[in-house]
Amino acid sequence: MNKVQIMGTGSYVPPRIVTNDDLSCIVDTSDEWISSRTGIKERRISEGEDTSDMASKAALKALEQSKVKPEEIDLIIVATSTPDNFIPSTACLVQKNILAVNATCFDISAACSGFVYGINIATQFIRTGSVKKVLVIGAETLSKVLNWEDRSTCVLFGDGAAAAVLSESDRESILAICNGSDGSKGQYLVSKAVPVVNPYTDKKDIDVNVNSYVEMNGREIFKFAVKTILQSTEELLEKINCSMDEIKYIVLHQANYRIIEFAAKKLGVSEDKFYVNLDKFGNTSAATIGIALDEMNQKNLLKTGDKILLIGFGGGLTYGGIAIEW
Ligand code: ACO
Repeated sequence: MNKVQIMGTGSYVPPRIVTNDDLSCIVDTSDEWISSRTGIKERRISEGEDTSDMASKAALKALEQSKVKPEEIDLIIVATSTPDNFIPSTACLVQKNILAVNATCFDISAACSGFVYGINIATQFIRTGSVKKVLVIGAETLSKVLNWEDRSTCVLFGDGAAAAVLSESDRESILAICNGSDGSKGQYLVSKAVPVVNPYTDKKDIDVNVNSYVEMNGREIFKFAVKTILQSTEELLEKINCSMDEIKYIVLHQANYRIIEFAAKKLGVSEDKFYVNLDKFGNTSAATIGIALDEMNQKNLLKTGDKILLIGFGGGLTYGGIAIEW
């Protein structure tokens, strides 16, 4: 089987910073409530850029850092819950924007686990030898599916995109993978698509008020998150035969600082081992882990040989983890 190396990373967030105080002018909330319950201080909100625009910008940065030309990319995978369209896929729009003329392109829907799922899929394609270079992107414009009158959800999320270039190599970056889903809990985090309306449907059964607003049962998500973080951490450590001491960083999906705090306590690990940037960007769903990884990379926090765990959890419900050697 071929080895897989992460060649480089990139990220992009829209320039408009929206602070907790800014939100308190829109809904009945406060910096104190949001900071103390979530750790979020500010987020970036699109002033018009859609998911493919941000994804393309992150992709170009990852390609530049990797010294890979767009035409060398064989596959583009975009993880998103907020695509520009049903058709064409966001990945096809990115292909057009960055001129990755030789790529096959598709989107995946795994909500906040999307970036980890994308790396997993890319790894399988490269390992079997069917492709050599893959662009994995997590990108979201959550601001377009938020109910800006619902204080319990609109304060949590932000917009942004992140990308990584994975390539066949003589060095192995992907040490272990784990993932899973529990569709029976799907109702705890929902953003609906359009209802079935056609000449053959019974109009009286159709909810004409359907919208795509994010609806969430925060407490159930919290429980699922903590359970799957612990489970994924144990499974990854066992698979790579390492102790926690040998792990330099754990990069969790950046949903809520309380989840990170709770997971650290349960695992008996210092909070310093967890990379956190949700204070600046909020929850960007499929993009959080990639944005964090790129930020760590830009800050030179990652040295060759460092072992890192990436763990995502989210709508579906889904979860996934990857152990990486940088
Ligand atoms: N500002 C002020 N008050 C608020 C706000 C707000 N932004 N949002 C909710 N409240 C109020 C509610 O109206 C409620 O008031 P009431 O008691 O008078 O009815 C009170 O605060 C408590 O509301 P809950 O929704 O029960 O708040 P909870 O304590 O559960 O905290 C939170 C919400 C922070 C989201 C919590 O459930 C949590 O940590 N969840 C973890 C999951 C998560 O972060 N999900 C986000 C994304 S999903 C994902 O990424 C997978």
